[in-house]
Amino acid sequence: MGSAMPKIIIFPEKTEIVDGKERVILKQRKNYSEEDKGKYDTTYGQVDLSKKEGVVNGKKYYVMPASFSDEWKRLRRGAQIITQKDIGAIISQTGIGKESIVGEAGTGSGALACALANVCKKVYSYDVDEKAIDLGKQNACTLKLDNIKFTLQDVKTKHPEKNVDVFILDMKNSWEALKMTVPYVRIGGYIVSYNSSMPAVSEFVNTCRKRDDVLLVKTIEVMQREWNIKDFTARPRDVVQHTGFLTFARRIK
Ligand SMILES: C[S@@+](CC[C@H](N)C(=O)[O-])C[C@H]1O[C@@H](n2cnc3c(N)ncnc32)[C@H](O)[C@@H]1O
Repeated sequence: MGSAMPKIIIFPEKTEIVDGKERVILKQRKNYSEEDKGKYDTTYGQVDLSKKEGVVNGKKYYVMPASFSDEWKRLRRGAQIITQKDIGAIISQTGIGKESIVGEAGTGSGALACALANVCKKVYSYDVDEKAIDLGKQNACTLKLDNIKFTLQDVKTKHPEKNVDVFILDMKNSWEALKMTVPYVRIGGYIVSYNSSMPAVSEFVNTCRKRDDVLLVKTIEVMQREWNIKDFTARPRDVVQHTGFLTFARRIK
């Protein structure tokens, strides 16, 4: 693990009046440097990482420490990762905080595990695939997170930890893991299932309904639309297309 604090270099958007109209002549650009000292090569030329700002070949740039989000977005990926919009909903709906103990399966790329570890006390992350466990460990190491325990484990058959505040299932056939998962969540705690298709959501919800120790809270889909705002005009930019549904349930006894 290196001791350098990653930095980002931002070239802000540049506009010019062309034929009486404001046109974007340079789109905002972001570079990422693992190092925090020395020179860094960008498409516009070499920038000095020790400066807070500068100009290279006529292009203004700013250098600043990378945020957790900047670093998280660059994690190595194996399996499809959960998106930030869905992570935000999981954290806010279940009230995960600095004292929370959270479990999740499967590890996949460790993206969810790392995002949770950044805001809670401890994360227990399980996967049946050794490669996923290795990737999760690597990503946690990159982000300097030491509060995640990765375990090679099929959560349909066993959960080694008990009394977690929240357990998130982001895995195929999540409903098949309910029987083992519910007893490992504390009473009042949450079980969250992330499913990409409606038939899978129905299976999960129907399995919950058959249990008397689980209360269904809700199923949601989080939609995110980015907007471009200029003077008094506003246009939608990127829409994050469908990612998945989140179903929240609570252990009641
Ligand atoms: C879509 S990925 C999870 C991605 C992860 N949430 C992330 O953000 O990086 C699904 C993972 O579930 C794992 N998995 C499938 N069945 C499992 C089971 N019964 N127990 C534990 N992990 C399982 C798969 O091996 C796969 O790595």
